[in-house]
Amino acid sequence: MECLAVAAQTLAMSTTRSIPTTLVIGATGKTGRRVAERLTAAGGDVRPASRSGAIRFDWQDPATWAPALSGAEAAYITYAPDLAFPGAAETVGAFADLAVARGVRRLVLLSGRDEEGAQHAEGLVAASGAEWTVVRCAFFDQNFSETFAEPIRHGVLSFPGGDTREPFLDVEDIADVAVAALRDERHAGEVYELTGPRLMTLAEAADELGAAIGREVRYLPMTAEQYAAELRTYGMPAEEATAIADLIAEVLDGRNAHLTDGVERALGRPPRDFADFAREAAASGVFDLREAAA
Ligand SMILES: NC(=O)c1ccc[n+]([C@@H]2O[C@H](COP(=O)([O-])OP(=O)(O)OC[C@H]3O[C@@H](n4cnc5c(N)ncnc54)[C@H](OP(=O)(O)O)[C@@H]3O)[C@@H](O)[C@H]2O)c1
Repeated sequence: MECLAVAAQTLAMSTTRSIPTTLVIGATGKTGRRVAERLTAAGGDVRPASRSGAIRFDWQDPATWAPALSGAEAAYITYAPDLAFPGAAETVGAFADLAVARGVRRLVLLSGRDEEGAQHAEGLVAASGAEWTVVRCAFFDQNFSETFAEPIRHGVLSFPGGDTREPFLDVEDIADVAVAALRDERHAGEVYELTGPRLMTLAEAADELGAAIGREVRYLPMTAEQYAAELRTYGMPAEEATAIADLIAEVLDGRNAHLTDGVERALGRPPRDFADFAREAAASGVFDLREAAA
């Protein structure tokens, strides 16, 4: 018995050692938070970084990059606001080069589908000399619950998406793929394009959210200009609101209306369905109507 206990302990230690010390950029965000949680739960040493995170990291302040990289052997790279923004790819490329110079040997990049800036960033990360994995993602399910929940609480899903179909993707799947790539070298050199299992219109997404919440949610199609104006009413600076609205209108213009097998290829299992996300998000209370402030 004692022998078995020692063997189990040794195995646990070697498993723990196999997780590289990992800098997670955007560790307060939708995918970064889940990646950091999974690595920590598995016994990994995580360096959670962002402007407001435990470790200060700001894409706009390169002086914060080297201290954040201290001791890191791997990095999960999420760029904010978006890789499609001007200068983003060059910034990510400069960071990847610094990371490799500081001893990082594995980089996993969260990327977009079919956006020029994102593909440029992918190329620069691949050229850094590190082992790399690219995780290209469809529109996240959790955009509805973690970024744009407020209008949905009031029964409206407004987006500049027309009647295009999109394979909405659960960020739990993204986190599983990113963690697999950070932990296991067999994912090196892979470009995983991840989608959910179904193509859905925004009207269908609104219906499924409504069914899960128990109140009607109506899809209100908007132009990019109208949507930027709405984002400004939630306090987003004008320039960012315009850029985000244009980007959403671009990725929802039909170019990405096809399914891929990326989750299955990376994880050997199918992606999670939107209905499961909607049910869990509704159960979490995120769409409950808040009491008006006194
Ligand atoms: N949302 C989608 O549907 C989707 C689809 C495909 C790809 N993506 C990609 O996913 C990435 C994340 O997008 P998201 O909208 O879902 O955001 P998010 O990850 O939920 O939030 C952004 C994260 O980045 C951090 N951050 C913001 N500005 C930063 C800066 N200047 N320096 C360092 N960290 C910063 C934030 O933390 P602090 O505020 O503490 O800094 C936060 O942790 C983007 O690159 C986007 O292109 C998103």
